[in-house]
Amino acid sequence: MSEQNQKIALITGANRGIGFETARQLGQLGIKVLLGARSAEKGTEAADKLKAEGLDAEFILLDVDDEKTHESAEKSIEAKFGKLDILVNNAGIYIDENENGAPVGASQTSSEIFRKTFDTNFFNTIALTQKFVPLIKKSDAGRIVFLSSGLGSLNLHSDPNSPIYNWKVPAYDISKTALNGYAVHLAYELKDTPIKVNAAHPGSVVTDMNARGEIPLEEGAKTSVSLATLPDDGYTGKFIHLGAELPW
Ligand SMILES: NC(=O)c1ccc[n+]([C@@H]2O[C@H](COP(=O)([O-])OP(=O)(O)OC[C@H]3O[C@@H](n4cnc5c(N)ncnc54)[C@H](OP(=O)(O)O)[C@@H]3O)[C@@H](O)[C@H]2O)c1
Repeated sequence: MSEQNQKIALITGANRGIGFETARQLGQLGIKVLLGARSAEKGTEAADKLKAEGLDAEFILLDVDDEKTHESAEKSIEAKFGKLDILVNNAGIYIDENENGAPVGASQTSSEIFRKTFDTNFFNTIALTQKFVPLIKKSDAGRIVFLSSGLGSLNLHSDPNSPIYNWKVPAYDISKTALNGYAVHLAYELKDTPIKVNAAHPGSVVTDMNARGEIPLEEGAKTSVSLATLPDDGYTGKFIHLGAELPW
């Protein structure tokens, strides 16, 4: 692939977990992967690991909660590549508290926990996305992926027969519900462009965030990778897990 035609992907929170594995799998497809991380040390170490595997990987400083880094990352990608093909909004936090082994309920979750969670998972993720949309419009096949969660599905949460009915983590869940809403609205705004915007549920993946995870990282990254590489006639504005549509 000529350097000019090479696709460029930016993955936030790519120093570990699903983000790191997503970068690896996109890199294995010949895509240049920019590993966004808020720690230069951890981000460089992660990029070095992928480079050692023969992949075209670079660290880029990106703290979702620091808009100055959105700006510096956007400027540097614009200067080096003139476009961005893929943005995977992967970084996220889960800081809901537990009591007696179960998440604290909706009536007890503090507004501080709600605010902090929404800042990273929703408001600052949106700000970052908005910063990059003009650069993604310069790609001939832009793809934007939001790492949501099945736990963001109101349909599943309100169905007593759904597997998540009895697992409610208010701040985290609702931040992902809000993110889903943003994905639908952005997909609508961009529907007449080549850009596809979708929300991913990776599955319950074994990571630092999810000690109760059931599937390995390799499988957990697959949904993000498939949405990041959808064909030109692929869908937009959907909520997807491994190719299957989930209810909002
Ligand atoms: N694991 C699951 O079962 C599961 C299920 C559904 C959805 N998800 C979603 O998938 C995404 C990845 O989750 P994961 O399980 O891989 O989590 P993880 O292992 O905890 O990794 C989270 C990543 O996000 C980064 N991050 C957090 N806040 C950041 C910020 N302000 N700026 C930049 N990076 C930041 C972390 O960086 P540091 O190392 O610097 O902290 C880390 O790289 C999240 O959005 C999560 O909500 C996960």
